[in-house]
Amino acid sequence: MKLFSSVHDVPDIKQFVNDALALKANPYAHQSLGKNKTLGLVFMNPSLRTRLSTQKAALNLGMNVMVMNMDKEGWALETQDGVVMNGTTVEHIREAAAVMGMYCDILGLRSFPKLHNREEDYSEDFFNKFVKYCAVPVVSLESATRHPLQSFADLITIHETWANKGTKPKVVLAWAPHVKALPQAVPNSFAEWMCKAQQDGMIDFTIAQPEGYELAADFTPGAKIEYDLEEALAGADYVYVKNWSSYKEYGKVLTYPDGWMMNNEKLQITNHAKVMHCLPVRRDLELSSEILDGPNSLVIHEAGNRLWAAQTVLKAMLEKL
Ligand code: CP
Repeated sequence: MKLFSSVHDVPDIKQFVNDALALKANPYAHQSLGKNKTLGLVFMNPSLRTRLSTQKAALNLGMNVMVMNMDKEGWALETQDGVVMNGTTVEHIREAAAVMGMYCDILGLRSFPKLHNREEDYSEDFFNKFVKYCAVPVVSLESATRHPLQSFADLITIHETWANKGTKPKVVLAWAPHVKALPQAVPNSFAEWMCKAQQDGMIDFTIAQPEGYELAADFTPGAKIEYDLEEALAGADYVYVKNWSSYKEYGKVLTYPDGWMMNNEKLQITNHAKVMHCLPVRRDLELSSEILDGPNSLVIHEAGNRLWAAQTVLKAMLEKL
């Protein structure tokens, strides 16, 4: 594997999930694979889980790891070609990415969208230029439109915890309130992975959101779309709670009807559903404390599986170096 930026980079998601669970059972089995290999993790934005789980994954594989917090410690990067750099940007991405590629065998990049211009964000211009100019394999640590390591960990978690093997769990992605405008990267990516899992006969997938919060159709092929949260939750086995800003009215927080926060009362409608969230979560705004602190929450288990998702991807890349 030379690029991990979406579910489309994975030939067989069932096999990938099984590979992750094999690593979870035997984390240090491939320590020699990463010997004398270096992973560079480049952050344009903050992170807790992605930063630590990906570092730990690399260490489990015997790699060296370097972390660069470009947003705080790096030079301000220029991404446009043909501009005279007489403003605030100090270094062009052409040189910066190329130099990082000289020091690292594999690079990871986190680069959030600006949420001002939909076409610009959805072109993934920054991520794609970084991939092009660094000239080494790249793992997305969350880009403008996708968070594939998170979604892979989510699929691992659903597969691992589903007790009725041989039957398909009903998985619901449920929009939740927030005070800030958040990217669509996590729900886009979750939808994309779940739609692929649905095509492969692993799950049934529904998305519930208020009017105006529809995701881009490219990310939701085959998903059942509901505008009534309670209808969507009926019989759900997994509820994935997440806020996102509007794609249609790009980056905006729209008005929405009351009752979109997941709580124990709504849990009663489900089939004793397990509740997931990528974290960080705003308690009692997006998701109730009673759920987060209760027996149905999978959020910590899910965050733990970020390690095995990252280790599976890095192993696949090391095997092709
Ligand atoms: N879920 C997730 O990616 O967490 P961080 O932003 O803390 O890495």
